[in-house]
Amino acid sequence: MNTQYYTASSLDGYLATEDDSLDWLFPPLGGDLENSSYPEFYSHVGALAMGSSTYEWIVRNAERVSTETGSPWPYSLPTWVFTKRRLPPIEGADIRFVQGAVQSIHATMQATAGNKNIWIVGGGGDLAGQFYDAGLLDELIIQVGSVTLGTGKPLFPRMVLNPHLQLTSVQRMGKELVELRYTVRKF
Ligand SMILES: NC(=O)c1ccc[n+]([C@@H]2O[C@H](COP(=O)([O-])OP(=O)(O)OC[C@H]3O[C@@H](n4cnc5c(N)ncnc54)[C@H](OP(=O)(O)O)[C@@H]3O)[C@@H](O)[C@H]2O)c1
Repeated sequence: MNTQYYTASSLDGYLATEDDSLDWLFPPLGGDLENSSYPEFYSHVGALAMGSSTYEWIVRNAERVSTETGSPWPYSLPTWVFTKRRLPPIEGADIRFVQGAVQSIHATMQATAGNKNIWIVGGGGDLAGQFYDAGLLDELIIQVGSVTLGTGKPLFPRMVLNPHLQLTSVQRMGKELVELRYTVRKF
């Protein structure tokens, strides 16, 4: 069982623009889910974590998400949404709103996921960082797009120098994306 941060990033390391737009990713780069690593990746996931900006992006873009995935809430798995605010739930979705330190929440997620993986859903650069800080992040899987944004929501706002990440795979995905996989070394 691994805790994985799976996300798409611009070439200069942003998940979204400052105003939370993902127009750089959909549809120009991200429209080919069937031919991406996503179906295989998702088949091994047992629980999801996301921050409130990502959750609110899905709520705001319900129509677009429905067109792309067939449902306004594209996940069948239990999802922990981190927020200090009261957010509206989505009917029919298994969502648990939580806040605070990630350790005990991770333990609950682990118990639910069983021998499957935990996905820190991208966006969520700082949320993935909180799992990293707690020694609970095992892998980063990043689809890097052929665009730059200049500013925006950072991919992973942490300094990781010693030990550095271990690059385990480089995979070209179509004409516009390269997927990089890294293991978090734990000494
Ligand atoms: N590139 C991609 O593949 C991809 C995919 C999906 C979405 N996105 C976008 O990427 C952007 C990511 O932005 P982000 O990294 O700022 O967003 P995020 O992780 O989705 O949300 C951050 C927010 O989550 C809440 N939060 C985080 N940790 C918490 C904790 N421990 N306890 C309680 N609340 C906590 C806080 O908000 P509150 O407490 O105020 O609620 C915080 O401002 C979003 O625009 C998202 O839509 C990108």
